[in-house]
Amino acid sequence: MRVSFVGYGSMADALATKWSDQHELFFGGRAPEKAAALAAKFSAHSGSAADATAFGEVVVLAAHNTAVFDAIDLAGGASAFAGKIVLDINNPISVDTFLTTRTDGRSLTQAIAEALPGAHLAKAFNMAQAKVWSRKDMTWDGRKLVVPFTADEAAATATQTLIEDIGAEALNIGGNAHAYQLEAAGALIIKQLFSGADPLTVLNLINPATKPI
Ligand SMILES: NC(=O)c1ccc[n+]([C@@H]2O[C@H](COP(=O)([O-])OP(=O)(O)OC[C@H]3O[C@@H](n4cnc5c(N)ncnc54)[C@H](OP(=O)(O)O)[C@@H]3O)[C@@H](O)[C@H]2O)c1
Repeated sequence: MRVSFVGYGSMADALATKWSDQHELFFGGRAPEKAAALAAKFSAHSGSAADATAFGEVVVLAAHNTAVFDAIDLAGGASAFAGKIVLDINNPISVDTFLTTRTDGRSLTQAIAEALPGAHLAKAFNMAQAKVWSRKDMTWDGRKLVVPFTADEAAATATQTLIEDIGAEALNIGGNAHAYQLEAAGALIIKQLFSGADPLTVLNLINPATKPI
């Protein structure tokens, strides 16, 4: 797939570590020279946020969580995302209170979906630290990491593939009405990490019927 990142920070770097062998990657953002520096690491393409969005079949919103809507504007607004699969990896969580920064009772994913009516939204990869996603071994205590995701119907297959391509097991928990559950789980993990937990700490779903690898 053609996968673009709007943003070139820790998460873009971590996810690209796994996807660069399998997908054609493009990094873009407000400082194209920073995007180019990360792209060089993966022999990928780079440019502006608008260039990245135009390139990708999948566009990962990978700017700081407080800058998601700035990044969308930078990329060209709603029309630039029409027909794209948009992957929301963001945690709208305060690191002072470990509560959501959303004030209207809806998830960030739902707010993005409303702002991008022509796009196909999904949420994934928010529930663990960047170091987890770039880790070679995706097993914990002998079991694969299960990565829950939410998605519109049109975004589900690509999202599942991208999760499997990092070596994890994908779990579709439903449409984006469930994204608030992922954001709450993100808050739980962030609180643990800020309290000193190992960055590789994860929440995993263990089904006793599935034997450890
Ligand atoms: N880090 C993690 O472990 C982790 C784990 C799960 C989910 N997440 C989520 O993933 C998202 C990205 O996190 P990250 O750790 O990769 O962030 P990061 O390393 O801090 O990088 C932030 C990116 O956002 C860009 N940015 C900041 N303000 C912007 C603005 N106003 N307009 C456009 N771009 C802007 C930065 O560009 P400049 O360098 O030019 O400022 C940079 O590319 C966050 O929403 C976070 O909640 C992070």
